[in-house]
Amino acid sequence: MEQREQWGTRAGFILAAVGSAVGLGNIWRFPYVVYENGGGAFLIPYFFALLTAGIPILLLEFGIGRTGRGSSPLSLSRLSRKFEWLGWWQVLICFVITTYYVSIIAWAVSYFFYSFNLNWGEDTKAFLFGTYLGVPGDAVTDSGWNLGGLRWHILLPLIAVWAGTYYVLIRGIKKGIEKVSKIFIPILFVMMILIVIRAVTLPGAGVGLDHLLTPDFGKIMPGFLGGTNPEWYSVWIAAYGQIFFSLSIAFAIMITYSSYIDKKQDVNNSGFIMAFSNCGFEFLAAIGVFAAIGFMAVSSGSEVKDVAASGVGLAFVVFPKIINAFPTLNGTFGALFFLALVIAGYTSLISIVEVLIASLMDKFRLSRKAAVNGVVGVCAFVSIVYTTGAGIVLLDIVDHFINNFGIVIAGLFEVILVGWFANITRIRDDNNLVSDFRVGTWWNIMIIGVTPLVLLFMTFKNFQLEFTKAYEGYPFHALLTFGWIIVGATLLIAFPLAYLFKWKTQEGF
Ligand code: ALA
Repeated sequence: MEQREQWGTRAGFILAAVGSAVGLGNIWRFPYVVYENGGGAFLIPYFFALLTAGIPILLLEFGIGRTGRGSSPLSLSRLSRKFEWLGWWQVLICFVITTYYVSIIAWAVSYFFYSFNLNWGEDTKAFLFGTYLGVPGDAVTDSGWNLGGLRWHILLPLIAVWAGTYYVLIRGIKKGIEKVSKIFIPILFVMMILIVIRAVTLPGAGVGLDHLLTPDFGKIMPGFLGGTNPEWYSVWIAAYGQIFFSLSIAFAIMITYSSYIDKKQDVNNSGFIMAFSNCGFEFLAAIGVFAAIGFMAVSSGSEVKDVAASGVGLAFVVFPKIINAFPTLNGTFGALFFLALVIAGYTSLISIVEVLIASLMDKFRLSRKAAVNGVVGVCAFVSIVYTTGAGIVLLDIVDHFINNFGIVIAGLFEVILVGWFANITRIRDDNNLVSDFRVGTWWNIMIIGVTPLVLLFMTFKNFQLEFTKAYEGYPFHALLTFGWIIVGATLLIAFPLAYLFKWKTQEGF
C-alpha cells in the first residue's frame, strides 16, 4: 500500500495549520467586522462562537482527518458513505474561494511595489477603483456583467502568485507546505508585531483603539434584554462567519491537513494552540489597523467612523492614505503591511488549493504531479475573470454568498451529519487517547446541541435577511447568477462527484 504523505514534525503541522488560518480574513476583514458590530461588545459573540463552534468543530475535523487519513471526501465517507457528498461540497466551496482569494493577494503584491514610491497618489480611492482595478462604468448597475477587458497589471502578479503556489504544492506536504510555513509564519508574526508597535506609538492611536474597544452592548442584545439594534442577530452571524472563515473550518482544510499527521500525535493541544494563535494574530491586526486609523482621523481632523471603511477598502484605500500621512519611513511601513498581507494570504491559499489536490489524488488515484498540474491550471484559468474590470464586483458578490450560504451551511450539515449520525464519542476518545489533555462531554454537547441550534437559527435569519434586502443594492439578476447559482452549483455538482465515480485509491473502498 502506498504510504500517505505526512508532516515531518508536530511543530510543522501546527505552523501549517496556523498558516492556513491566518490569512486575508485576519488582516482586512476582522478589524472592520469588529468595528461595525459593536466594537468591544463584539468580543462576546466572537468568543462565544470560538468556544461553542470554532474549537469544537476544529477538534472534530482534526479527529475526522487523523483517523480517516484522507481528504475531506475520503475521510467523511470512511465515517459513512452517505456523508461523502458533504466532503465534495466543501471541496467545491474551496474551488470557488481559491479563484477570487488569489486575486486579492495579487493586488497586495502590486501594492507592495507601489509602497516604495507611494504610487497610489493622494486620492487612493480613485486610484484603486479607477487606475488599478479599472472598474468600467457604474459598479452597482453593471453588477459584474461589464467585464471591461483584462487588467494586465493585475494578471502579472496573479501569475506570479500562482507560480509560487505551484512551486510549493508540487513539492508536497513535508518538503513544500511544511517548509514554507516554518519559514514564513514566524516572519509574519514578527512583521505584525513591528506593524503594531509602530501603529500604537503614532499620535492619535488611542482614539482609534477607543473606537475599536468601547463596547456597545445594545448592538448585540435582543430588545427584551435591553438591546437597541433590531438586527442584533446579524452581529452574531458576523461572529460565526468570521470564526469559520478565519479558522479555516467547515471547508475541508483542517480535515485535509490533519490527515497528514502522525496517528500517534496530539490533536487537542495542537487545536487549542492553533485557534488561540489565530485569534491572537487577529487581535494584533485589529489593534494595529485601528491605531493607524485613529492616527489618520486625528491628523486629518475627521471622525474615526469617516476614516474606517470595509473589507477591500480598508486595506487598499484607507491604508495607503494612512501610509501617505506617516511622519517618516512611509514606504517601509507600507511595504511591511502589504508584504504581511501577501504572506498571510499565500500560506492560506496553499491550504485551500491543497484541499482540491488531495481529494482528486484520493478519488482518482492521481499522482501529486498530475493533480497539481490539473488543479493549478484550472484554478489559474478561472481566476483570470477576477483580473478584469468587473473583478471586484464579482468578488464581492461571490465572497458574500459563498461565506454565508456555502461555508456556514456546510458547517451546519457537518455537525448534524457527523454529530447526530456518527459515533462522535469515539472520535473524542480517539483524540483524547493521543492528546496531552482530554476533552470532556462539553464537546459532545457543543457538537450535537449548541452549534447545530445556533447555526440553524443563523441560516434561517440569513435567508430572511437576503430576501428582504438586496446585498449592497446589487440588482437581482446579478445576485442570482453570481450568488445563488454559484453556491447552488457547488452543492449540486457534489453529488455526482460523490456517487457516480468509484474510489480508485488503494486506501479507499
Ligand atoms: N483562514 C483563511 C483566512 O482567514 C482562509 O483568510
